[in-house]
Amino acid sequence: MTAVDFATEKPHRAVIAPGALEHLGEHVGDASGVAILHAPPLARAARRAAAIVRAAGAEPVLVELPAGESAKTPGVLADCWSALAVAGFTRSDLVVGIGGGATTDLAGFIAATWMRGISWVSVPTTVLAMVDAGIGGKTGADLPEGKNLIGAFWEPSAVLEDTDLLATLPIEELRAGLGEVIKHGFIADERTLELISAAPAEALDPASALIGELIVRSVRVKAGVVGADLREATSVGDRVGREQLNYGHTMGHAIEAGEHFTRRHGECVGLGMVFAAELAHRTVGLSAEHVERHRRMLELVGLPTHYRGIGWEQARELMARDKKARGATLRFVGLRAPGRVTMIVDPPERALLGAWNALTR
Ligand code: GLY
Repeated sequence: MTAVDFATEKPHRAVIAPGALEHLGEHVGDASGVAILHAPPLARAARRAAAIVRAAGAEPVLVELPAGESAKTPGVLADCWSALAVAGFTRSDLVVGIGGGATTDLAGFIAATWMRGISWVSVPTTVLAMVDAGIGGKTGADLPEGKNLIGAFWEPSAVLEDTDLLATLPIEELRAGLGEVIKHGFIADERTLELISAAPAEALDPASALIGELIVRSVRVKAGVVGADLREATSVGDRVGREQLNYGHTMGHAIEAGEHFTRRHGECVGLGMVFAAELAHRTVGLSAEHVERHRRMLELVGLPTHYRGIGWEQARELMARDKKARGATLRFVGLRAPGRVTMIVDPPERALLGAWNALTR
């Protein structure tokens, strides 16, 4: 078992291990009700969680959410609030979210908003959620007008990452999760890149020790970043705070939105990292060799590095609407070299177009 501590506003621990869900009982405390919000494929894990909660002396309330991002709607939020109201939840009760990033986002937001905030436990079950979406306290839901337009920073009281639950994850989900792992490698952990390069097939095997090690390394990177800047407040020049976790996301989000969210987030982030690397090459001196390394790393885990889809004008327009843009100014997380993050603010149009052409040629 490995534990990673989040030294944040509400210090807490992530436990990463096969069978980590069994630790849930330790977090029930004096709750008399525990709402277990889960994605449909996690019904079995949710029933196990319910049994653990009962054994710890509390009453479980199982709530099955719609699959994936379709859970993050105001309608589903209202249904969850009603379920808590009917069960008589008070400020001392607990929410547990078991599933991918959409489930943990929604569960955390329910906890953030119930009686102005109650405790919750995050049980992320995909690689992507274990290394990024399900940790760090960003919670929220979508509106028809856009993704994650409502939300709150609301940290869990514990994170349980049960690597046994990865066994049934489709290979495409594993690949997409490794996109975020590679992101953490480029911004802060060279060893992650070396480990994947040495054994890419193992990195894609949910039963391998390597995937566990990669997850732990990524959680450590994220814990370090959010420990220094939970609320994404600090980003000036080379002093980049939580915003660095959005490496590859400006173009990644544009592609995701332009494709009507039909492509996996991690895959779009991979394409966004190729764009960001090409842009950094043109603006802040990232070497051509490191740009190629971005492509190589993504290819090793079977992620695309070449994009054909929406056009430049639409991509640029969507990037201008990204939450990192300030007014009309485009902002990108960039690398001077792996591990040396900087902000690229208002880059020349020629550099943007050059990076786009390199991604789409
Ligand atoms: N996924 C980016 C962050 O948590 O800040």
